[in-house]
Amino acid sequence: MDTKVLLPTDENIEYAAKLLNGGEVIGMPTETVYGLASNAFDESAVEKIFIAKGRPQDNPLIVHINSLEMLKNLVVEVPDVAYKLAEKFWPGPLTMIFQKSDNVPLAVTAGLSTIAVRFPSNKVANALITKAGIPLAAPSANTSGRPSPTSANHVYNDLNGKIPAILDGGTCEYGLESTVILLKDDENITLLRPGSVTIEMLESAVPYVTVDKGVLHEIKQNEQVLSPGMKHTHYSPTAKVIIIDSNFERFKDFIDRHDYKNIGAMVFEGEEKELDVPCVTYGGEDDELLQAKLLFSSLRAIDDMGVSTIYARMPKKDGIGLAIYNRLIRAAGFEVIEL
Ligand code: TXA
Ligand code: MG
Repeated sequence: MDTKVLLPTDENIEYAAKLLNGGEVIGMPTETVYGLASNAFDESAVEKIFIAKGRPQDNPLIVHINSLEMLKNLVVEVPDVAYKLAEKFWPGPLTMIFQKSDNVPLAVTAGLSTIAVRFPSNKVANALITKAGIPLAAPSANTSGRPSPTSANHVYNDLNGKIPAILDGGTCEYGLESTVILLKDDENITLLRPGSVTIEMLESAVPYVTVDKGVLHEIKQNEQVLSPGMKHTHYSPTAKVIIIDSNFERFKDFIDRHDYKNIGAMVFEGEEKELDVPCVTYGGEDDELLQAKLLFSSLRAIDDMGVSTIYARMPKKDGIGLAIYNRLIRAAGFEVIEL
């Protein structure tokens, strides 16, 4: 199969919608990362997603909607707290978990009785959902284990030959996957995956936000988890990534004294000029929005550097920094050196 990369013209969106209604799987842009979409009501189409990505069978998908009417068809009930959060953060990079209705095949939720739903703000994603007239199940459109794709080219590199088409909506606005939350009651929610809707932003709508242990800590393979995705290997380039927790002065000293060959550095913009090893940069030290946007493409760029180990500068852990740290520490297999 030849994978077509298509600009999001009306004609191409109509063609992509037809593919979706015919049970196919396609790459679509969203404001977070590219998704690998299929009709959420079509069990065999959903199974094709797992095959194309090589996704573990126990990892549930997020369903993309573009109206609250569509949401009501997928879930048993929409609690008040969800309306409050939807009002503030939808359309946008927030995923909420609901009790699943019987309309949705268990393949979507990997057998769980709950379902993750999000209303994306990306125009192309919205036009596609409207044209297709169905909710779209879509995980990130990378091969499982690889960094999530933030451009159509990333999707093409991972999935060429495995899917019929990718809609090319340019570079993703945020660059990290959505914030995922579990709803408890009117005052309590649990953060399962940090994203561009930050804890501070969530607290402006719901007073108590609990951070699940999987956000910051490694989950053992046999441990019970609230978010199955958090326990799988993630975002890994072929080189080994190790995070260095220090300031730039000590980081530079560590790199300069290193006697191995074949090392590289993942640093903040400007710092590459002071180092004698191959570097990728991921935004300025104080520019978290840009760090988030560039993180995954920088992790992908490491593969072209021909190095075996990459030492990465440590992001901050608050605001959007928490989401950046959550992804980078997984890319590093939780290996951090404190200097
Ligand atoms: O921004 C995003 O969320 C992107 C774009 C394409 O929308 N999608 C995405 O999907 O990141 P994926 O499959 O790569 O990540 C989905 C995450 C996983 O960590 C999964 O375990 C969690 O959501 N999830 C899905 N359904 C769940 C459920 N019922 N309960 C708990 N966690 C769930
Ligand atoms: Mg993913």
